[in-house]
Amino acid sequence: MNKQKMLKIINFLLILDWLVVVISILFYRFIPSGLQGSIYLYETHWIAGIVFIFLTIMHFILNFKWVKSTYFQPKKEKK
Ligand code: HEM
Repeated sequence: MNKQKMLKIINFLLILDWLVVVISILFYRFIPSGLQGSIYLYETHWIAGIVFIFLTIMHFILNFKWVKSTYFQPKKEKK
């Protein structure tokens, strides 16, 4: 699989997983419902959080060329 295709998948998973991280903590902590404070939502947040970190690292690695050219390229002399 080429890099662009992988990035497309990783980016899509990132947004889905981010939604799980945020929605689970909102229902765990702030939105009153039968599930507020439940171990189920706590674990969902925790596991989705770990997955989020993994996906972020993958996203960073796949975009490393961009990071390098943007931040680590020696500055060109102005004439
Ligand atoms: C948009 C991102 C995130 C938001 C808004 C967020 C929000 C929160 C909040 C408000 C709590 C406190 C819940 C409470 O005890 O009342 C919490 C706890 C926690 N979060 Fe997140 N979180 C985010 C991302 C992550 C990520 C990436 C991880 C990585 C594993 C993570 C792991 C945890 C864990 C383990 C706890 C429980 C800490 C404890 O025992 O008190 N969260 N989060």
